[in-house]
Amino acid sequence: MPYHPSPEAQSWIERLTARTASPDSKPSPQHVAIIMDGNGRWAGERGLPRIEGHRAGIQSVRSIAQACRKLNIPYLTLYAFSTENWKRPRSEVAALMKLLRDFLRDEIPEMLENGIRLRGLGNLSQLPLYVQYQLEKTRRATQAGRDMQLSLALSYGSRDEITRACAAIARKVKDGKLRTSEITPEVVSDHLYTTGMPDPDLLIRTSGEFRVSNYLLWQIAYAEVWITERLWPDFRDVHFYQAISDYLSRDRRYGAVRT
Ligand code: FPP
Repeated sequence: MPYHPSPEAQSWIERLTARTASPDSKPSPQHVAIIMDGNGRWAGERGLPRIEGHRAGIQSVRSIAQACRKLNIPYLTLYAFSTENWKRPRSEVAALMKLLRDFLRDEIPEMLENGIRLRGLGNLSQLPLYVQYQLEKTRRATQAGRDMQLSLALSYGSRDEITRACAAIARKVKDGKLRTSEITPEVVSDHLYTTGMPDPDLLIRTSGEFRVSNYLLWQIAYAEVWITERLWPDFRDVHFYQAISDYLSRDRRYGAVRT
């Protein structure tokens, strides 16, 4: 569906664009990562089954991807399903997988039109085969997208990711392909699911929880964090613009002092 920003959203877009274009402005974020939380509560508050919260959450995914594209932010990474989420009731997991497959299938034209390429991050082989199939199909169909990468963290857990990276590096050392002295933070980064991507500049979490929930632990070392009470299905483009505006007003020092 084409993006028709509301007057309020349009006004945010103009202000943020003007702000980032000014020579003394801070650069806009290159990578925004989001923990989409609160779908279940949103449904509960309305007396609906939890899956209806996830369904409504897909509208927010669309809205945020469009907003991100509008601001020319090249990387958006969404926490769609964690390694821990497998412990949810089977019916909820099955419904989520189906929603995910439908999203991956139905959004291809929109992604192609907007220069968006899709990437899956996580232990993807744990996903049902029909989801793996659609994920790969969508990845291939959109791989030429040059304007934005939409990454979905699926069956993703950061500790699992770092553990796998350690094992892969250890194997290379054992096989004589890498010396221990050559293991640098860049080498570690190159063995994560996010290889080739810049680290997130901004981490957004909805539903007011102050946790990082095993998400991109290595990559968010210097990310700015923005938390909102709003539940994910209520989180739309204008709220995203608010987060970006707040990010632009922050002073990022990376542990150094201001000069
Ligand atoms: C957290 O809400 C959300 C999830 C575990 C799944 C996120 C999935 C979607 C937004 C829909 C599918 C996504 C895509 C990209 C197609 P919760 O269920 O933990 O909410 P609660 O904390 O209120 O129970």
